[in-house]
Amino acid sequence: MSVATVSEPIDDIGDVTARARTIRLPAGFAIGAATAAYQIEGAVAEDGRGESIWDRFTHTPGAIKDGQTGDVACDHHHRWREDIALMRRLNLNAYRFSIAWPRIIPDGRSAVNEASLAFYDRLVDALLEGGIEPFVTLYHWDLPQALQDEGHGWLRRGIVDDYLAYIDAVTRRLGDRVRHWTTFNELWTFTWWGYAFGEDAPGMKLGAKGALSASHHALLAHGRAVPVIRANSPGARVGIVLDLNAANPASNRPEDVAATRRFDGCQNRWYLDALFRGAYPADMLELYAGSAPEIHQGDMATIAAPIDYLGINVYRRSIIAAGPDMPPVNFTRIQPPGSYTNIGWEVYPPALYDILAYVQDNYAPGDLYITENGAAFADRVGPDGAIVDLERARYMVAHLEQAVRAIGAGIPLKGYFAWSLMDNFEWAYGFSQRFGLIHVDYETQRRQVKLSGELYAAIAGAVDRNPRQASRAFAI
Ligand code: FCB
Repeated sequence: MSVATVSEPIDDIGDVTARARTIRLPAGFAIGAATAAYQIEGAVAEDGRGESIWDRFTHTPGAIKDGQTGDVACDHHHRWREDIALMRRLNLNAYRFSIAWPRIIPDGRSAVNEASLAFYDRLVDALLEGGIEPFVTLYHWDLPQALQDEGHGWLRRGIVDDYLAYIDAVTRRLGDRVRHWTTFNELWTFTWWGYAFGEDAPGMKLGAKGALSASHHALLAHGRAVPVIRANSPGARVGIVLDLNAANPASNRPEDVAATRRFDGCQNRWYLDALFRGAYPADMLELYAGSAPEIHQGDMATIAAPIDYLGINVYRRSIIAAGPDMPPVNFTRIQPPGSYTNIGWEVYPPALYDILAYVQDNYAPGDLYITENGAAFADRVGPDGAIVDLERARYMVAHLEQAVRAIGAGIPLKGYFAWSLMDNFEWAYGFSQRFGLIHVDYETQRRQVKLSGELYAAIAGAVDRNPRQASRAFAI
């Protein structure tokens, strides 16, 4: 089979459908969709759930577009059975979701809340009964507010022990059935946007110093969690999810090349070097100088605990020039001509291949997954009720072609998760950005599979199901 290495434009539904049919993924490949607790669950005051930093932040005037909150979101906490039925309709063999810490230990340090453990227990069982492998993320940004109130959340080193108590409870309870655990989702995003710039919860504006201190404690929590998860969930695979970006300089001017190196250092190498080389990159430590985190003896070895897979969230590439952003990183992102999604991110499918190749060439961390990839577009429900989201369908097919290309090049890519299963609460953007394969009418909570979802179902349906073999070597 020949696979396009560079994506050609796809003109119409027939074309995108024909291209979807040519995508052949290996047996055991995890083909799934992803969500996160705060973005879909709603039911924020039920079953003893405590307040999270996202509850507090979304109820802060001016923080979120149109003052929207995740109080109800997709009401998944009540509709999870219907949602699993939809996953089956999409032929998914894997589902990546997160557990809400404030449901499990509502005030951060009290007794474990049995009602919520039971909720996730039922969810996991129902997924397994439906032939869908659960990929469980233990932290997708919804910190208990009580832990933010004490020492500003991730800025307090002692939070590591609180995280360990929480993940211990979860992995003890679900460890006999869950085979894939993720300690954290996107450290760069929640630490920089939450602690440096205040655009995400908890809304702190401390600059690089805040981001790097929060990041260091989260990395430490990750490293200390690995052996706990292994003990509670024997044989399970443990990993972490990072948002990584292949970065290219806007020109060959030395200042743009240097800015690209700094951007790469901030978003990619800071985390990859710590996790897979046991040291922060020397050039970045020098650049951050007084903003660098306080590193205790043994921290870096703890952070570099061997893991089984790396999840990569990828949405776009980064073309970088010297500029004023994120001091002292000091860069600006260039927006080349081309097509863009509704949220303003460039559509550039080879970015998926490029970041996989970058990670494999420089770190070879073991199994790789694309744990998020997707596009926000303003969908229209047609007069016949159908949602023909051609742009999203094109985006998805063109990115999956790049996944096939990566597998063909020998990169150990074991799975792909579309972001997202359904439209949901997109953080500071509220409900204004729709990323779903399934449309959600927020008034009625009616779900409807979009064209992209139908095509995804066809692609997923062609995969030989057995995700538990996904870590074995394969050839396509
Ligand atoms: C990622 C987040 C995810 C979602 C997508 C669009 O950064 O992990 O929750 O918001 O972006």
